[in-house]
Amino acid sequence: MIGLIGAMDIEVRRIKALLTDTKTESISGVEFVTGRCGNKEVVVAKCGVGKVFAALCAEAMIMKYHPELIVNVGVAGCLCDNLKIGDIVIACNAVQYDMDTTQLGDPIGMLSDINITYIPADEHISEVLQRSVESVGIDYKKGTIATGDRFVSDDAVKRFITDTFGAKACEMEGGAIAHVCYVNKVPFGILRAMSDGADNGANMDFTTFTQMAAANSTKVIEKFLSLI
Ligand code: ADE
Repeated sequence: MIGLIGAMDIEVRRIKALLTDTKTESISGVEFVTGRCGNKEVVVAKCGVGKVFAALCAEAMIMKYHPELIVNVGVAGCLCDNLKIGDIVIACNAVQYDMDTTQLGDPIGMLSDINITYIPADEHISEVLQRSVESVGIDYKKGTIATGDRFVSDDAVKRFITDTFGAKACEMEGGAIAHVCYVNKVPFGILRAMSDGADNGANMDFTTFTQMAAANSTKVIEKFLSLI
């Protein structure tokens, strides 16, 4: 079973449409759709926006469906000068940029108890995501994806995230899903298509380009499901 999680309906509805023999089940208010895509069994969920919804969805998915891997899919704010709207970032790792116990002497972003800042994505999943993007023909970068409970639409916040964490994209769920996968020892990947520049005015770009960006991430996931 392959697990796929997106935050918003627009990020998962085309993926659900790829499935046959579907069944739907609701856990803690999250709908999980299971079905087949080619010879793969897949479970797809729309988790909702933000780290708490993302974490509860990932935990419920792992407990109920025991996926062999989870990929977080969808759109993100671009932190990279050499990517355009619609291009893709594949996570090498994920960081929660709003985790901050520096006043207790910890490094910024460090996750207490597990004591790491950057949660590594599974190398095989990232490599298959890379081959999928290349075969679909969309420009991409691999790098850090930064997660926090904020829609970034501000040049100063964008600069803080890039300067502090060296991230290539920012969004609101990937780092939480990574965290849950890490503690449960489930391999994970993150694939995000750029919907905006996370700068002043990102809210306008997000409204205009999310549909196109979400369609790009779905094209890649369709290919991924045939290759993994
Ligand atoms: N998802 C898409 N664009 C984003 C942004 N600018 N900030 C946070 N999450 C996003």
